[in-house]
Amino acid sequence: MRHLIDPLDFTVEEIDSFLDLADKIVENPKKYSHVCDGKKLATLFYEPSTRTRLSFEAAMLNLGGSVLGFSSGQNSSAAKGESVADTIRTVSAFADIAAMRHPKEGAPLVASMFSRIPVINAGDGGHQHPTQTLTDLMTIRSLKGRLGDMTVGLCGDLKFGRTTHSLIKSLARYKGIRFVLVAPEELQVPDYISEGVLKANGIPFKMVTRLEDVIGELDVLYMTRVQRERFFNEEDYIRLKDSYILNAAKMELAREDMIVLHPLPRVNEIAGEVDSDPRAQYFNQVQYGVYIRMALIIKLLELEVD
Ligand code: NCD
Repeated sequence: MRHLIDPLDFTVEEIDSFLDLADKIVENPKKYSHVCDGKKLATLFYEPSTRTRLSFEAAMLNLGGSVLGFSSGQNSSAAKGESVADTIRTVSAFADIAAMRHPKEGAPLVASMFSRIPVINAGDGGHQHPTQTLTDLMTIRSLKGRLGDMTVGLCGDLKFGRTTHSLIKSLARYKGIRFVLVAPEELQVPDYISEGVLKANGIPFKMVTRLEDVIGELDVLYMTRVQRERFFNEEDYIRLKDSYILNAAKMELAREDMIVLHPLPRVNEIAGEVDSDPRAQYFNQVQYGVYIRMALIIKLLELEVD
């Protein structure tokens, strides 16, 4: 039985096979509409979510399966002090596969150790978010036709933004990738990313504070919000929250074929005027997320589809 806890739990070849399956689902969704008949997905969400939870639920429903779960720790026995280990042992009796989001780093990993069903990390604290990364990979591959040989800029809260950590780890495995990390110094990527992933693997990258200076170099610009809920004090959040605002004037400095992605939710970091720019792809990105989660569910449940 396989779980998806860390973006590197699957090889590049396995990830390619997920992406290939997701592409096939896009071409012929009807063919897959009963693949999960009789199967159940549990969504165990201890932290707020709109896209990830509903995208998982839509994915399972599209496959003919059903869903059960909770959307806040307050609605579950976690509020009574139950451990994730005991919760997943219980859920293993009700469902065939589970997606878990938790404010504590490592909680889905712990769950996977006690689970009798595949566990998917749907975001653990400021750590990782591997299914957002699968979504991002599918979006980039679909729109740019490749995953290597490109300059990817990540902008915003690179310290607490788990989506950026997972995306960097994953993209670092492809040839010809170069990163431009745009953040206030206090919100730059953690050392385990800059040293442990980038320097250790000889991946070219630079850290800058001004988006205007580098936007013209980018093939992909990945914007992120400042992660208010992970700050220790509100003053720091208020001081840093509007560090970057992508607007039409900045977009004029970018290449014609650059794409703008964002895991969403957006707060202030992309002005509404950018939404009508054809390079703005963040709402299409949401759609790719459903297809790749359908592919992931099929793969983790080891279902046969020709
Ligand atoms: C992200 C998350 O939860 O990490 N949202 C998402 O799943 N698409 C990004 C964020 O909350 O900023």
